Amino acid sequence: MKTLKEAYKDYFKIGAAINVGSYKSYEQIIKDNFNTITCENEMKYSFVCDTSEHYDFSRGDELYNFALSNGIEVRGHNFVWHQCTPVDYLATFEPDALWQRITEHIKLVSGHFPKVSCWDVLNEAIDDKHGEYLRDTVWRQKLGDDYYIKVFSYAREVMPHTPLIYNDYNEFIPSKRENIIRLVKDLKEHGIIDGVGMQGHINVPEVFSLDELRRTIEAFAALDLKLHVTELDISCPPINTDRTADDLTPAEIEAHAKLYGDVFAIYREYAKHIESVTLWGVADDTTWLNYAFNGKKRNALLFDRDHKPNEAYLRVTEF
Ligand code: XIL
Repeated sequence: MKTLKEAYKDYFKIGAAINVGSYKSYEQIIKDNFNTITCENEMKYSFVCDTSEHYDFSRGDELYNFALSNGIEVRGHNFVWHQCTPVDYLATFEPDALWQRITEHIKLVSGHFPKVSCWDVLNEAIDDKHGEYLRDTVWRQKLGDDYYIKVFSYAREVMPHTPLIYNDYNEFIPSKRENIIRLVKDLKEHGIIDGVGMQGHINVPEVFSLDELRRTIEAFAALDLKLHVTELDISCPPINTDRTADDLTPAEIEAHAKLYGDVFAIYREYAKHIESVTLWGVADDTTWLNYAFNGKKRNALLFDRDHKPNEAYLRVTEF
């Protein structure tokens, strides 16, 4: 059986999100399979900084040092988001003060982790409501509709050599894709973006289609940007049901494995545009899908609750 990074050595980097609470429980799996990691939370605003602007990097440092000392790259994730951020506190800032705050934050955090392979500068800025463009966030309200240009320009100024990425989800839904393209094109015209992060949370199968995934990859690649699959997971059962992983039928387990195989086959086809494919977790015992939506246990990744490679793993590595 091939490890993930052996299977994909001629295609793209392969990664996982890891967190301080669980990474030691599957340290060997990480070393054997992944050549890039993302801190699941430990570099996010609320995790490095409290509301008195006191910074504590110890949790991020632990993962960053673990990875780098094992020859594994680290993606930076993220600076500007509407979650894992003290938005109520930041909403009390005057616009100038908020700009001061976020630029200081970007400078400090990027300076603290200088060896990251890239940064997700801005996360999930597109609105999901039909007909709307930008999400209504504290950033947009205070810094203006062009805040994303300001943020990326500043990031470029302090990190002239680090690939800067825009990252979002539901990228395979046509209306969302169009709005992501609009934003990314604008950044590209300003010369301040290097890549686009396709999160790849496939959690409601009704809104996912392989054809649309293919169209998304082609559309993003046509913008002459590197593609990063940043947060891949496939929820089984889907998040919009009340069932749990214990209720799965053999047919559902087979469909899950097949879908993983099909999704990776498309990534391989477009490998020359794809920098990395990162799974949002390592094994099913600690996937965020177990707690993030309605708290039902789910299968989502390529290693099961006992940290054994599952059927999807085989479909992804044997081709
Ligand atoms: C999630 C983490 O997995 C959770 O532990 C945390 O409670 C919330 O954030 N999109 C992103 C990721 O860009 O940072 C999110 O990670 C999942 C959705």
